[in-house]
Amino acid sequence: MSCTDPTTGPLIIDGKATASVIQEELKEEVERLQKEHGVLAGLAVVLVGNRVDSSTYVRMKKKVSSAIGIHSVDINLTETVSELDILAEVEKLNNDPSVHGILVQLPLPDHIDEGKVLQSIDVKKDADGFSAYNIGNLCLRGGEPPLAVPCTPAGCIELLQRYGIEINGKDCVVLGRSNIVGMPVAALLQSCNGTVTLCHSRTKNIEAKIKQADIVVAAIGKTEYVKGDWIKPGAVVIDVGINSKPDATKKRGYKLVGDVDYEECSKKASAITPVPGGVGPMTIAMLMKNTVNLARHSIGLPRMPLRNKMHRNLSHRDFIVTSQRLSSSQDNTSNK
Ligand code: GUN
Repeated sequence: MSCTDPTTGPLIIDGKATASVIQEELKEEVERLQKEHGVLAGLAVVLVGNRVDSSTYVRMKKKVSSAIGIHSVDINLTETVSELDILAEVEKLNNDPSVHGILVQLPLPDHIDEGKVLQSIDVKKDADGFSAYNIGNLCLRGGEPPLAVPCTPAGCIELLQRYGIEINGKDCVVLGRSNIVGMPVAALLQSCNGTVTLCHSRTKNIEAKIKQADIVVAAIGKTEYVKGDWIKPGAVVIDVGINSKPDATKKRGYKLVGDVDYEECSKKASAITPVPGGVGPMTIAMLMKNTVNLARHSIGLPRMPLRNKMHRNLSHRDFIVTSQRLSSSQDNTSNK
């Protein structure tokens, strides 16, 4: 049985529009930092090799930095560069006062020890929030706040919060335990008082676990893995996946889809992120936010708040109406 009204469907969580609101906020903050403190926030991005996906992400990051007014430094290294040469580049950036955030685009070629390169980034310039110091502080209760928070997880939480979607007390299922997404998003959901189940390749009966979830975050890199009949009616679905799927109707021969079967799941969910245009643009917005926060930290200012209040420009009325309608239809279903 379909649980969304076929005439209106679920709330589509618009990451593109949300990211552009955040970018406007950050642009103001970058200007203020420069005017009031004489500091121009700077981000360095290190790209090794010429993977198409990595080059695309890096190009997008550069475009957004320039729109916000962030100083951007690009380091492009060949696929065959030695680990020592990468470490030397990072060290130069660690010592460059015009750079407040450093990002080494992952994955790195197989001959490079990724962990070693990430560890070489000065914690005060860790734009990805991947260092043990930042991850440790993210996970500790009552510890220091991290200097930066992993960008995709922060983007998922920011979307939930800006759309007024409650996490407190909700059952959350995260699919995937990667250092980049699954593990930190689980820690963030827990820090927002969600009850978190983290599923991975060895988890038994994933389908049954998803069926219990009020909030599903899918980050396993499997094309359209989550099916509509696994979704509890009225659940919120956040799709982190970006996979290409053959599509002869497209000029390029493929289209981008997520880890969630959007057609099916949007018939059950109260709110869902599309792919593309959902979590993707938020990742870049959060990288910019981390960079601005690191620039603030460099002159002793506190970071901008991680969890902003409600969105200034997006309406939540549709969501509230949809979720009320869905929860009453769920009640009716369970009474039968
Ligand atoms: N590759 C895919 N996602 C990311 C990310 O968030 N940060 C970095 N550095 N590389 C990535």
